[in-house]
Amino acid sequence: MNILAIETSCDETGAAVIKNGNTILSNVVATSQALHAKTGGIIPETAARQQLSSIHPVIDEAMTFAQVTKNDIDAIAVTIGPGLIGSLLVGVETAKTLSYLWKKPLIPVNHLLGHVYANFINNSPKFPAIALVVSGGHTDMIYLEGHPITAKVKLLGSTQDDAAGEAFDKIARLLGLPYPGGPKLAQMADVYLKNNPQVKLDLFPRPLFNSNDFNFSFSGLKTAVRNYLKNVPDADKSFVAAQVQAAVVDVIVKKSTFALEKYRPSSFLLAGGVAANNMLRKNLGYSIENIGRSSQLHIPLVNLCTDNAAYIGVCAFYNYRPYSWKKIAANPELTIVEL
Ligand code: KG4
Ligand code: ZN
Repeated sequence: MNILAIETSCDETGAAVIKNGNTILSNVVATSQALHAKTGGIIPETAARQQLSSIHPVIDEAMTFAQVTKNDIDAIAVTIGPGLIGSLLVGVETAKTLSYLWKKPLIPVNHLLGHVYANFINNSPKFPAIALVVSGGHTDMIYLEGHPITAKVKLLGSTQDDAAGEAFDKIARLLGLPYPGGPKLAQMADVYLKNNPQVKLDLFPRPLFNSNDFNFSFSGLKTAVRNYLKNVPDADKSFVAAQVQAAVVDVIVKKSTFALEKYRPSSFLLAGGVAANNMLRKNLGYSIENIGRSSQLHIPLVNLCTDNAAYIGVCAFYNYRPYSWKKIAANPELTIVEL
């Protein structure tokens, strides 16, 4: 079965062709990051306008690269939410039009669950699983008894204010780094740590570290950094970046190991853009090894952590529910526990 998947929930325009739920025949992503760098962040209008002009070329490229025509496509999957309404509409309306014209079923996909399925590409993680989605807009810990189409899904906790990626991005901005700052902050931090392996990483608070639940809070960290920079205006920015990264990673690792100890799932599935973070990938691996549980840790390949359509197609394959195009609508407020 070949699924054409479309993803336009934030500032990326993605199209992919996925064969039998595990083989990526193509995965094309166009980004409008260069435009947002000029304004220091995403302006939803700008993102949607760019997506409107990119969506057809991106789909064409995905089909050409996969060497398929519309006759080889069995279904179309599309992200319906959560996300920016203008951006979502571009993908959803395009997918509906293709579904109507090509007479193919349409599968609506939750963007957050989609992220989790980056772990199912060329892999079959076992259930029950705990998934942690750490992205630019969300920090959600969820329990999955099985694939959500047939099994229970429960939200264990989420951020009370800023998401993990949002914290990286906002603090990067305080440090004067251009948008998107998260990966740049991480890169600075890694270089600093390579040159200063002995540095003590305890400058900033670890919010909700000992709260014994699965909630997160990162806005206090942002304030702490702002105050620090005010008091130490000539601070070494790489040093600050390393401290920030360590604070965010420590909290995520602590909550993840707590979830493993409490639920003892067969798998732990890390997902979302922040899952691309080197320190997080490494430290989570060590901690899970150290607690000696039998849970298997899964982390997607770095290039599949950030927004793309491949995992949307994989999620659609495992949660196959064909709809008529007439029944599909964008839903910017969709939560992770809604399929
Ligand atoms: O999942 P994603 O691509 O988009 C959303 O659905 O939000 O996540 C983007 C987020 C951004 O906040 C970005 O700064 C963060 O992921 N991110 C990182 C890294 N790469 C991307 N944060 C920390 N370290 C990274 N290497
Ligand atoms: Zn995302």
